[in-house]
Amino acid sequence: MFTSPPVEGYSLNMADAEQRNVRLLTMNPAWAEPLGEGLAAIDPWLRLGYGAQTLTRYLSAEGADRHALAVLVDETPAACLTVRPNWLRGPLLELLGVLPAFQGIGLGKEIIAWLVGQAQHHRQGNVWTISSEFNLPAREFYRRQGFEAVGHLPELILAEEAEILLRLKISPP
Ligand SMILES: CC(C)(COP(=O)(O)OP(=O)(O)OC[C@H]1O[C@@H](n2cnc3c(N)ncnc32)[C@H](O)[C@@H]1OP(=O)(O)O)[C@@H](O)C(=O)NCCC(=O)NCCS
Repeated sequence: MFTSPPVEGYSLNMADAEQRNVRLLTMNPAWAEPLGEGLAAIDPWLRLGYGAQTLTRYLSAEGADRHALAVLVDETPAACLTVRPNWLRGPLLELLGVLPAFQGIGLGKEIIAWLVGQAQHHRQGNVWTISSEFNLPAREFYRRQGFEAVGHLPELILAEEAEILLRLKISPP
């Protein structure tokens, strides 16, 4: 799945009524920098100790087993995600981040809907992700999208924090 480039020009809808141009695109290093800086300033990355440079490098690295994508609102980088396409009978959404100025307007929900569509297209029965246990807003967001907690992973990133493995079971289209 996710041929390269995976989603050139894919349009997302937004919950608000503004007619803005929202596109999902393969990550470009020029966008990885502001996105990395933005994510480093907010949880969960702030609390987990990920700096801007580390995140920018991570978002810039494209490999066969992991894709980095950006969401542009008009021409502004607004959100990003990284995906491991064939993780466990479905993709693993390794990172999802919407910058604060663009939260709450439906981007996260649209990104999950797109990922579910990709998985269905490839006849995969699951979408997986991981959330920090302390990240209650994200866990509520994922719950509303239909994800269920299926695993508790203590000391995965930091000794004093746990991660929660989340599964969205999907049916074929
Ligand atoms: C969590 C996050 C991905 C949600 O994306 P978003 O674009 O802001 O969310 P949306 O506008 O698409 O909201 C979708 C749904 O989730 C709910 N939701 C979103 N943020 C929420 C929050 N902080 N608390 C509770 N519910 C929330 C919305 O009310 C909406 O519910 P509905 O479908 O019943 O109407 C985004 O806020 C974010 O990136 N946060 C910081 C980083 C993070 O925690 N990433 C995820 C784990 S690594």
